[in-house]
Amino acid sequence: MLVEKNAPLQQYNTFGIMARAMNLVRVQSEQDIREFLAGPPLGASRQVVVLGGGSNIVITRDVEPTVFKMEIMGKRLVAETDRHYIIEVGAGEVWHDVVAWSLEQGYRGLENLALIPGTAGAAPVQNIGAYGIELQDRFDSLDAVDLTNGESFSLNAAQCAFGYRDSVFKHAPAETMPLTMIARATGSTAPRGMGLAGRAVITRVRLRLAKDWKPELSYLDLTRKQAEKGVENPTAQDIFSWVVEIRRAKLPDPATIGNAGSFFKNPQVSSEVCEDIIAREPKIVHYPMLDGSVKLAAGWMIDACGWRGKSIGKAGVYDRQALVLVNLGQGDNSVTGGEVVTLAQAIQASVYERFGIRLEPEPIVW
Ligand code: EPU
Repeated sequence: MLVEKNAPLQQYNTFGIMARAMNLVRVQSEQDIREFLAGPPLGASRQVVVLGGGSNIVITRDVEPTVFKMEIMGKRLVAETDRHYIIEVGAGEVWHDVVAWSLEQGYRGLENLALIPGTAGAAPVQNIGAYGIELQDRFDSLDAVDLTNGESFSLNAAQCAFGYRDSVFKHAPAETMPLTMIARATGSTAPRGMGLAGRAVITRVRLRLAKDWKPELSYLDLTRKQAEKGVENPTAQDIFSWVVEIRRAKLPDPATIGNAGSFFKNPQVSSEVCEDIIAREPKIVHYPMLDGSVKLAAGWMIDACGWRGKSIGKAGVYDRQALVLVNLGQGDNSVTGGEVVTLAQAIQASVYERFGIRLEPEPIVW
């Protein structure tokens, strides 16, 4: 087990915020987690926070809980049925590399999720999604380690309780009992809806990719791209390239402009609330959902409030996509987590004032 004291985190969060971890453990195997749990506490407590690609966090201070930097690697085919390929990837693998590798191997289905920053282990936590596909549509199961006793367990999709940018890993635990004891009591590894935030660490993720592949081109940006390219029957590789083009045109590359992707979720409201808003704001971009509710485009609302291209301190609103907050500083002169939070709160206040909607941040604040 490799432990680093006072480890700089600027390289490890895509916002590029400067902060340090009192203790950073490089987790390269399940055994590393068990060694950490069996040894003396590294800091004041045994509390742990998990760092994947650092693409969904805002760090507001030096981090006292032990930071697990996930570096479990590996990408392989673990099973094949008549209808599916099941691939397994280590939590530390870069998500985009997983997408590119799977296509090279001939396993299609992840192409719409190209170029999403972050690691494979973080993908189920917020059920990453883009261009008409969410991780849950391609998910098979995952392995994790229970931080209360070091035991490994697996979860299927139902047990992960996926929702829009949501899963069991985003909710605080209701139970303090070890997961294995709960399993014995309930006959399942983790009852649906049980919170696992801070309680379990994802180590491996398995994806189920159908051999009978169908392109998913219904998202407006992709439909337009297909028309522009004039390709009637695109391959998965075509869609992969188009998604990369669309993302590069719209979203800032964290390597040059620090950011954490969409900063807010697209709020979901009842059709009555939506009707009400449309009566006042006829141009609002909205999408009817299968359950009768309506999703509102948060980026449109923020843009309509005049925030696109504006800034507070070194925290800015990206000028090509108002849903993305960016670091206008660099290196030693980087934005602080506090500035990002201040800008986010100012945006929430003006969206609430105009639309009566409370925007919920997507990244986790440390
Ligand atoms: N819009 C504006 N002005 C803006 C931004 C957006 O008018 O400044 C409008 C767009 O013209 C469009 C609508 O709002 O009509 C929605 O915008 P877009 O298609 O860019 O998608 P989004 O809802 O803003 C979501 C995801 C992205 C994902 C894209 C494509 C969330 C929170 N965000 O963005 O995910 O890439 O759809 O599927 O659901 C992420 O989670 O980090 C992320 C980038």
